Amino acid sequence: MSKPFDFDIGRLTGEANYSGRPPADFAQTPERGTFFLETFGCQMNDHDSEKVAGVLLARGYRQVETPEAAGLILYNTCSIREKAAQKVFSRLGEYRAKQSQGKIIGVLGCVAQQEGEDIFERAPWVSLVCGSASYRKLPELIAQLESGNHRVTGLDTDTEETFETEITRRDNPFRAYLTIIEGCDKACSYCVVPYTRGPERSRASDSILREVRQLAELGYSEIQLLGQTVNSYKDPTPRKMRFAELLLAVAGVPGVRRVRFTTSHPSDFTKDIVEAIEAQPKICEHVHLPVQSGSTRVLRAMQRTYTLEEYLEKIAMIRGVSRPIAISTDIIVGFPGEKEADFEETLCLLDEVKYESLFSFKYSPRPNTPSLKMDDAIPEEEKSRRLAILQDRQREIQKARNARLVGDTFEVLVSGKSRRENQWSGYTSSNRLANFTSQEQELLGTYVQVRVTGATPNSLVGEHVV
Ligand code: 5AD
Ligand code: SF4
Repeated sequence: MSKPFDFDIGRLTGEANYSGRPPADFAQTPERGTFFLETFGCQMNDHDSEKVAGVLLARGYRQVETPEAAGLILYNTCSIREKAAQKVFSRLGEYRAKQSQGKIIGVLGCVAQQEGEDIFERAPWVSLVCGSASYRKLPELIAQLESGNHRVTGLDTDTEETFETEITRRDNPFRAYLTIIEGCDKACSYCVVPYTRGPERSRASDSILREVRQLAELGYSEIQLLGQTVNSYKDPTPRKMRFAELLLAVAGVPGVRRVRFTTSHPSDFTKDIVEAIEAQPKICEHVHLPVQSGSTRVLRAMQRTYTLEEYLEKIAMIRGVSRPIAISTDIIVGFPGEKEADFEETLCLLDEVKYESLFSFKYSPRPNTPSLKMDDAIPEEEKSRRLAILQDRQREIQKARNARLVGDTFEVLVSGKSRRENQWSGYTSSNRLANFTSQEQELLGTYVQVRVTGATPNSLVGEHVV
């Protein structure tokens, strides 16, 4: 099933900031008019890339599968942990040879924002450096490149206006990502996001709902609302819609069958969100609620704005309703000064909450962040040891949790077809991956009932019940 592109061309603001360097031989390349776009990082980055691809397609560019076939090579980067950022420079090294063939190379995303014009010093073969808050200027920046400017930057963190989904080419024909809030106003001591994505800006509720209606008409049945702290949403219109009201309003749009949202911050996670999930079956029964640590002492050092007890109250609120709501979380091990006893508290938290899934990371010191200067760094081997223990414990929890689901039946939105015959996959409302068999010929994009016949720690195995 293919989907028409949803072009909704918006305004451009601001001035491109460029310096007139010797023109790159852009118009002379045999691959002119084509682009290759590689994306690293989170769902926000995936969605940003959809926006970038939309901007380029609207200018008449064609997307290609390999850097070799492209005239313009774009790399949408992540700098949340050091490893991700390092990868960018090694990838840029690989691209170096390509510039000599007249290709234009651009760095987008968080590394672009963080490193800024220094990228031109470290990798002089790069011609475009643009952070996510400046993507609204991309058409203008691309025009500068096309007219021969060799070093073009978009590095403002645009606080006046929210970047809206002006021109988007969505990758998935059934599920649409939609940014409702950009940037972050929290100040977690380990995190680069407030620096790379700028301060929090919420999008107008009427504009969000207008786009949801367009998406539903185009056949997208699952809407996933995105934001670094999605539930900190503050409607800038006089309507002042609360986040929970927005969830209900999105679910009420004809054609929408599922609404997801990520990522929630515990401090802004209010009762009315849980009540909305309980009242409206179209709002998926899943909450991603990063805790980061099970120790209040470490949470304080992380500047997470809640104690373990306050976090557990939110968990009790979610678990206390009639609908079974799956909870997933993020945990960082080896934060500076994390003692064995703090780590034990994190393990106890896993035992207590029994999360449906977990994303776990070794602490990575990042530029500009307050925790960079903290004493008592944890040695790398110790971080690895704690991570392995944490992941083992969680694997056991998921194994037991999923095993209990054998015999149950779930609704699955079918999003994958395996090469093996009669094998399909998709996600339940609780965000569990289900691999299942069906005799049907075409199921992609449909909702089916799947009976669970087996389980692994990370997925369910089942059969289509007709
Ligand atoms: N080191 C390790 N993990 C980090 N995260 C954010 N910053 C860092 C860092 N400096 C993790 C947090 C966050 C997730 C997206 O990435 O757990 O929730
Ligand atoms: Fe980073 Fe904290 Fe903001 Fe999440 S809430 S993006 S961890 S600063």
